[in-house]
Amino acid sequence: MKVKKLMLIGLLVVGILPNTQAQMRGTAHDFTGYRRSAYNPSGEVCIVCHAPHNTDATSVPLWNHTTTAQTFTPYGASGSGFNIHFTPGQPDGSSKMCLSCHDGITAANSYGVNGKSPALQDSITLATGGATAPRTSTITRSNLTTNLTDDHPISFVYAEAMVANPRLRDTSYITPLGHSIGVDMLDKQGKLQCAGCHDPHGSNTGWNSTYLKFSNSNSALCLTCHNK
Ligand code: HEC
Ligand code: HEC
Ligand code: HEC
Ligand code: HEC
Repeated sequence: MKVKKLMLIGLLVVGILPNTQAQMRGTAHDFTGYRRSAYNPSGEVCIVCHAPHNTDATSVPLWNHTTTAQTFTPYGASGSGFNIHFTPGQPDGSSKMCLSCHDGITAANSYGVNGKSPALQDSITLATGGATAPRTSTITRSNLTTNLTDDHPISFVYAEAMVANPRLRDTSYITPLGHSIGVDMLDKQGKLQCAGCHDPHGSNTGWNSTYLKFSNSNSALCLTCHNK
């Protein structure tokens, strides 16, 4: 029984991981030089963000990139043109990982920081421009900056906003991915993060060119949570 289970896990790993890599090859998140200027000569797509050992244990999962040390101005922190039903705070969870490049300050090529794979950094000469420095794609706004007041709110408990806002769908609402909002779009703490709308491992083509989890055609993404 146990052996069978292990075999199944083995098959899953063998089956899923190369698939992720095939999807990621040549996308904006492939830093091996396949499509964009290389700062990872190893040919390993995942290593810039994840490593199997000696990773940064304060960031999950198996984080191998420098984590942003910036202080952000969250959505709703300034101005009066908002009407949110939660207390905005600092980015946390996996959003902090995205912002470890997309803050435009933390060097995108700063990885392997805890002593793993130091050789990989040999040929890296990126400026501290963060995500905008190595760009070869047509997206010009990848640098979100540390001012998040002009970005969709993140890192808050969806249910907290939901109970106070009748125009938000219940967490049990089924998304186009086939499960509830809670399962498909919120993290383990029930928070909405960047990864609620994006999959950083996406194929990055067609409607998915901005790594969306599913198509936003007819605002399908927005309308999954907002009952308008
Ligand atoms: C540009 C950075 C980046 C790269 C490159 C990257 N990941 Fe990730 N990965 C993330 C982030 C951020 C998260 C957490 C957010 C999430 O769950 O999507 C994550 C989460 C995961 C998870 C846990 C959640 C899940 O989807 O099951 C796995 C497993 C994973 N990555 C595998 C991989 C593999 C395998 C590769 C290489 C083929 C890879 N990643 C490349 C950034 C990256
Ligand atoms: C995973 C669920 C989810 C998705 C997808 C989503 N939102 Fe939101 N959005 C929320 C939640 C929750 C809030 C906080 C609402 C509150 O506090 O009342 C919010 C807040 C907002 C606000 C700010 C409201 C205010 O009063 O300040 C706007 C505007 C908004 N979303 C627009 C969009 C748009 C446009 C899209 C599609 C690109 C989108 N949302 C996709 C969940 C989502
Ligand atoms: C290791 C650094 C790094 C991490 C971590 C990272 N990104 Fe990126 N991302 C980039 C770079 C570099 C680009 C390309 C920017 C450019 O060309 O200007 C990019 C591009 C993108 C794009 C635009 C796609 C395109 O075709 O240009 C989106 C959307 C995106 N990232 C979302 C995310 C999200 C969401 C996360 C976290 C789940 C994340 N990224 C994590 C470095 C990173
Ligand atoms: C509520 C859903 C939602 C959340 C949360 C969200 N995004 Fe996006 N993001 C989108 C959509 C939709 C687009 C495509 C916009 C377009 O095509 O004009 C996008 C586009 C982008 C782009 C491409 C540049 C641009 O401005 O179009 C980047 C980079 C990006 N997101 C990064 C992030 C990061 C990093 C986070 C977390 C800090 C995040 N996103 C959170 C929905 C979201």
